[in-house]
Amino acid sequence: MNLILLGPPGAGKGTQSVLLEKRFDIPQISTGDMLRAAVKSSTPMGVKAKAFMDAGDLVPDEVVVGIVRERLQEPDCADGFILDGFPRTVAQADALKESLEQLSKKLDAVVSLKVDTDALVERLTGRRTCKSCGKGFHLKFDPPTADGSCSACGGELMQRDDDHEITIRRRMDTYDQQTAPLEDYYRKDELLLPVNGMGAIEEVQKDIISGIQAS
Ligand code: AP5
Ligand code: MG
Ligand code: ZN
Repeated sequence: MNLILLGPPGAGKGTQSVLLEKRFDIPQISTGDMLRAAVKSSTPMGVKAKAFMDAGDLVPDEVVVGIVRERLQEPDCADGFILDGFPRTVAQADALKESLEQLSKKLDAVVSLKVDTDALVERLTGRRTCKSCGKGFHLKFDPPTADGSCSACGGELMQRDDDHEITIRRRMDTYDQQTAPLEDYYRKDELLLPVNGMGAIEEVQKDIISGIQAS
């Protein structure tokens, strides 16, 4: 199963991808996570990407296209993959099409998560992530332990550098201008699967799975 999860910042791409990864035993490929790892270890790519990410802008296409192209060739993608946060521009979608053709792979569905703007802001301002294992939480909707540590490993939680209101608004504008056109792109390819992302995490997961199975 080869999937894309499309949706604005805070729509639940990461949350739903992790559940789909477990359910279908295929890897989540999050360009945001890969870029944050590069920033953390100060690789040349990470140093270059950081300024774009902190501003809420997109990292240049050639950088992300290169990392995804390499990642899709890894053996764990043989039975499928879940792309989380890629593609984000028409140029990235075109490059993905070309890479998949070269690898004789086809997309099965592009899940497009629909969430109201106010809910997106609330989700992002309340999001916390474990410093040690990377597990995601929400202070209200998916809370960590009572003492504020990670329920999986006991690690300390942190807030993402770009999860502050001004940057959140900028990321949303970037999404509307550069990524939203991909809905039409994939509708034309008959791959778009719109899913209401406003329900509880488990309900959204159920809707994604039933949508995929019906498509
Ligand atoms: P990226 O990391 O992809 O960030 P994003 O697209 O802004 O999306 P988020 O990760 O913020 O949201 P999400 O949809 O994953 O939501 P989540 O599941 O965490 O990218 C970061 C940056 O990297 C970009 O700005 C850009 O600079 C760069 N970048 C990345 N990819 C790129 C690309 N392809 N090209 C160029 N640049 C790129 O959920 C959010 C919160 O809500 C969590 O706390 C969660 O617990 C909670 N939640 C989830 N679902 C629900 C629910 N149903 N009900 C209540 N709460 C919920
Ligand atoms: Mg994410
Ligand atoms: Zn943890």
